[in-house]
Amino acid sequence: MQNRVIILGSTGSIGRAGLEVIGGLGPECSVAGLAARSSWKALAEQARYWKPAAVAIAEDRHAGDLRAAVPPQTRVLSGAEALAELVDTVECECVLAAVVGSAGLPAILRTVELGRRLALANKEALVAAGPILMNLARRSGAEVIPVDSEHSGAFQAMLAGHRREIRKVCLTASGGPFRTWSAERMAGATLEQALSHPTWNMGPKITIDSATMINKALEIIEARWLFGLDPEAIEVLIHPESVVHALVEFADGSIIAQMGTPDMRTPIQYALTYPRRVTCPSPPLDLRELGRLNFEPPDPERFPAVRLGYEVARAGGLAGAVFNAANEAAVRLFRNGEIRFPEIVELTALTLARHEPNPQPIIDDLLAADRWARNEVARCLTC
Ligand SMILES: NC(=O)c1ccc[n+]([C@@H]2O[C@H](COP(=O)([O-])OP(=O)(O)OC[C@H]3O[C@@H](n4cnc5c(N)ncnc54)[C@H](OP(=O)(O)O)[C@@H]3O)[C@@H](O)[C@H]2O)c1
Repeated sequence: MQNRVIILGSTGSIGRAGLEVIGGLGPECSVAGLAARSSWKALAEQARYWKPAAVAIAEDRHAGDLRAAVPPQTRVLSGAEALAELVDTVECECVLAAVVGSAGLPAILRTVELGRRLALANKEALVAAGPILMNLARRSGAEVIPVDSEHSGAFQAMLAGHRREIRKVCLTASGGPFRTWSAERMAGATLEQALSHPTWNMGPKITIDSATMINKALEIIEARWLFGLDPEAIEVLIHPESVVHALVEFADGSIIAQMGTPDMRTPIQYALTYPRRVTCPSPPLDLRELGRLNFEPPDPERFPAVRLGYEVARAGGLAGAVFNAANEAAVRLFRNGEIRFPEIVELTALTLARHEPNPQPIIDDLLAADRWARNEVARCLTC
């Protein structure tokens, strides 16, 4: 069966891994469209190799250079709406959403409206607009298949029983580079230290999210909307080896775990080929070599972000959009050297506490809350 794929965020860590997976899937799978923010040279190189029908670049100023560098049959779209236009105008079976941050939301909503399969890595979109996105998917019949390794693991383990039989879903966390650090030591953590993840090789924003454990908070919220779970039925377990990605406990007490090497090509491929399983370029997991698996609960004192994830998952409404945007803004400040490491979570929590709740937001309310939270983080910094 033909599988034409659009990759949003093709120049990033997940996007590049996605292209590698597509290359391994053979002629049944092809690249229909590619998109990035500003990396026009990398995007042009990908377009010359994959020959998609169109490419999109969010930053308008690169459109001319990109146009001159892509094959003549590849259309170039540019500007803030370009990713959604790409999804709208290019025929495909699947969209791999691998943009970082809530910027990916409009194109993701369009994908789901059109009833196409959404292979979702861009967790921030689901955090900001979970109920709206999942309702749209229910109406259009679009399949939303998670790429995040924990959610892919949970999705696979859930197939062992009925949804109503699920008692608990456990998402594992590596614990990040500061798993064993004291709060005092973390207060002086540098950008370089925050970017040194022990098990996963990922883009910079999610690597910092892993260091603060806001990544796990985002994943609790993601699981809440994606699987329609009560926040109380979602558990987080630190598992430094990162080979058990998720565990699902059923009514009879049986726990089904999904395991594999920490390599994003496996969940990306599964989201593209589901329900089929085919050979994947990831190396196989060798449990004899690994010897043992460790698990421990997260420390709420050193990693308060996890508690925030539950709060936001319970609150719904605008809380997800505010939490996500505040974190994006705070991570940017940390990367620019304007705040210390613990201030990422502090500023995010402060912004969340100050937002005006709205239990039934429409998409314009979410976008306004996203803008408000970014401004509020900047304002907090000056007060
Ligand atoms: N990396 C992982 O292993 C991993 C694992 C699980 C989940 N995820 C999730 O997957 C998503 C992508 O993560 P990543 O690590 O691959 O990020 P990344 O390496 O930073 O790549 C981000 C991609 O998004 C594009 N992009 C950023 N802002 C954009 C905008 N405003 N408009 C259009 N394109 C934009 C970038 O284009 P430019 O190159 O032009 O900037 C790049 O192609 C995130 O939501 C992350 O949480 C990642």
